Amino acid sequence: AYGTSVYQSYESRGQYTFEFDGDEEFYVDLQKKQTIWRIPAFAELTSFDPQGGLQEIATAKHNLEILIKRSNSTMATNKAPEVTVFPKSPVVLGEPNTLICFVDNIFPPVINITWLSSGHPVTAGVSETSFLSNPDHTFHKIAYLTFLPSDDDVYDCKVEHWGLEEPYLKHWEPEIPAPMSELTETMVCALGLAVGLMGIVVGTIFIIQGLRSGGASRHPGPL
Ligand SMILES: *[C@@H]1O[C@H](CO)[C@@H](O)[C@H](O)[C@H]1NC(C)=O
Ligand SMILES: *[C@@H]1O[C@H](CO)[C@@H](O)[C@H](O)[C@H]1NC(C)=O
Repeated sequence: AYGTSVYQSYESRGQYTFEFDGDEEFYVDLQKKQTIWRIPAFAELTSFDPQGGLQEIATAKHNLEILIKRSNSTMATNKAPEVTVFPKSPVVLGEPNTLICFVDNIFPPVINITWLSSGHPVTAGVSETSFLSNPDHTFHKIAYLTFLPSDDDVYDCKVEHWGLEEPYLKHWEPEIPAPMSELTETMVCALGLAVGLMGIVVGTIFIIQGLRSGGASRHPGPL
């Protein structure tokens, strides 16, 4: 388990999180001075004094001020985030599921991740993690949307970030396998049979050729 403190001059924003093996355990709500557990049941097992997080952020703020001066107020470089969308469970029509939008390579940690359902913004059933740390000092964030798979709904995960010229839409729609028609089934069967028969013919030719050349090489050469 490890804590990360982030502080940036943009809007005087900070974030204090605790992670375990790449997952978020909790963050400290710096305004409300509260520890917010990623899984509420964790709070019943353990606790974390939010003051610890607030102190870390105060230190980070102090260090940032020194670093800004030392760098002659050099601005941070924006990176282009990478976006992947996939469902939590295999998609079955009418069975509640969760869409996951995984956004990686985020820097600086200022981003908007929203969901569109058939082109319309969705606000119900959405949630997201804090900014989670990467070893190269970029961040990743995971956004969730609960949804009911249906034939005619399509989804987009919309990402706004300074590293992108315009908002990026990552499209996703359920892939419902079309039931095979009888004709298709017959075709697949016939094709399989044809390939099988061809194998027998080709195999037989190889065996005959093998026997012939094998027989030839058994003839003793001239001494
Ligand atoms: C910042 O500016 C000062 C004075 O112009 C210069 O001596 C120094 O090398 C600069 N530092 C950086 C990190 O660019
Ligand atoms: C995020 O959305 C807000 C509100 O629409 C907007 O003011 C802000 O510029 C957006 N941030 C980015 C990084 O695009």
